[in-house]
Amino acid sequence: MADSDIERRWWKEAVVYQIYPRSFNDTDGDGVGDIPGIVEKVDYLDDLGVDVVWLCPVYESPNADNGYDIADYRSIMDEFGTMADWERLLAALHDRDIRLIMDLVVNHTSDEHEWFLKSRAGDDEYEDFYWWREGRDAEAVDWRATEGPDGEAPPNAWRSYFGGPAWAYDDEREEWYLHLFDRKQPDLNWEHERVREEVFELMEWWFEKGIDGFRMDVINLISKPDGLPNDPDDPFGGAMTGPTNGPRVHEFLSEMNDRVLDRDYLTVGEMLGPEIPMEHARRYLNPDEDGLSMLFHFEHMLLDRGDDIWERSEWSLSELKAVFNRWDEGLAEEGWNSLYLNNHDQPRMVSRFGDDGEYRRESAKVLATLLHTLRGTPYVYQGEELGMTNYPFESLDEFRDVDTLNPLRNAIEDGEVESFDAVKEAIRANSRDNARTPMQWSAEENAGFTEGEPWIGVNPNHEEINVAAERADPDSVWHYYRDLIALREEYDVVVYGDYEPLFPEDDAVWAYTRTLATADGEERLVVVLNFTDAEVAVGLPDDVPREGTLVLGNYADDEMDDDAELATGDLLLQPWEARVYHQSA
Ligand code: NOJ
Repeated sequence: MADSDIERRWWKEAVVYQIYPRSFNDTDGDGVGDIPGIVEKVDYLDDLGVDVVWLCPVYESPNADNGYDIADYRSIMDEFGTMADWERLLAALHDRDIRLIMDLVVNHTSDEHEWFLKSRAGDDEYEDFYWWREGRDAEAVDWRATEGPDGEAPPNAWRSYFGGPAWAYDDEREEWYLHLFDRKQPDLNWEHERVREEVFELMEWWFEKGIDGFRMDVINLISKPDGLPNDPDDPFGGAMTGPTNGPRVHEFLSEMNDRVLDRDYLTVGEMLGPEIPMEHARRYLNPDEDGLSMLFHFEHMLLDRGDDIWERSEWSLSELKAVFNRWDEGLAEEGWNSLYLNNHDQPRMVSRFGDDGEYRRESAKVLATLLHTLRGTPYVYQGEELGMTNYPFESLDEFRDVDTLNPLRNAIEDGEVESFDAVKEAIRANSRDNARTPMQWSAEENAGFTEGEPWIGVNPNHEEINVAAERADPDSVWHYYRDLIALREEYDVVVYGDYEPLFPEDDAVWAYTRTLATADGEERLVVVLNFTDAEVAVGLPDDVPREGTLVLGNYADDEMDDDAELATGDLLLQPWEARVYHQSA
């Protein structure tokens, strides 16, 4: 792509750091992280070099799903602090040129939100704010026990993503309401114009407070299909296939774009579903349509997952590459990718795609190199920059997450799963709680996260893996992240270069070039990553230029030797070795 064709944007050049406030830093000793705790660590973020913070929900919430069930979009949860604390945070970030994006959760609210309370009471203005339906005759449907009044089954066969039916019966209104997630997360009815108005107004309200964008929770589910049809081929009975990229989703989002978005905001839409067709992706990202800056798809997150949380399947490097390659190609001309391998909903990336044993440090750096040198905006999830790992869960009472506990309890009740022990390995590998254990600041008690009793267990490996130790060691994962972030600032090609994969079918090595036309010629990166714990020889194709210097690597080899190897085209990689060469011609 010629330089003049490139649409330069600050959010393409940025590195985003995701904060899950409950687990970041607790200042009042209640065992739950808080906003003053984030303010305390703003210099830490600045030292790391990140450009944006994505703050997971901090709004008032009964916490059925840790803040993803919002009871008031314009106030701060007591446990996290006050609006004045939040304003201090925004100012502290902006003082250091770090932008702030908030989480927008508007597919659903909490059942304790005023809109729902009024809707349930049949208030004229709010009665259609949610999806209310009559039940069906239980005799007539093939559906397991429900909580409805005698003889009533839920309106359709949709299942909640968090287990059980996607409908809950409400005694007050004497009808059922739809909840794709927990029963305390009723789905908003976006067909209703006033719902959309309310959402746009609350977005505007936050923009006026000075935020720089939104991460939009499950935003591709907001439009439900006419008649809410069942789908026997969908493991959720139709609740996944129906609402995913639903019939009016682009209409709703382009209305949002016209009303409240601005191309200078960073907006990232979370897009649920096994596969997002590229033509939808392009519409989500087209500035003249929905206008989002980027999206999170789940294709790579599903490679090692079965339909249920107690199932796993094998993934291979070539499959993982295929996902990233398809997305790079799909959005090469229009759109922009986000790059992530973990977040608050996913296990820790080093345990999942790397090696959290002998090569923890090396493999954390390989994965980091990948995320920071592919084309797209990298998202760093808190603790990733330390190489934090999954938690050694031993019993069910150590878990906190609804999306682990509910489906498992239902399955045990239904006899589908015998016991926790029978599926322990899969649950401990898959659970979202792996990401939610406290940030490891030091080797002290509770990893320096709290002086109280932490709301969820602290990983015992904090004695070894923690911010203090990482910062003190120049070869640490933390320092490597800093170097990667600095590399992005130094070389334009890291952000804007075209991506060309080298051996797409190879299951051991991920190698690629990035190329950018410059005023004087071309700037290029050659990135070579060994994804195994064995030495691997790599022969570069003839058309990869041979001159270049190693600008980053995770082995303390002699850089001259590495450069000499590039000159011959024959590289010998150490276990989990990462090399980034830079060339300008
Ligand atoms: C996606 C969020 O990231 C997750 O944490 C949450 O449980 C669901 N959406 C429902 O809001």
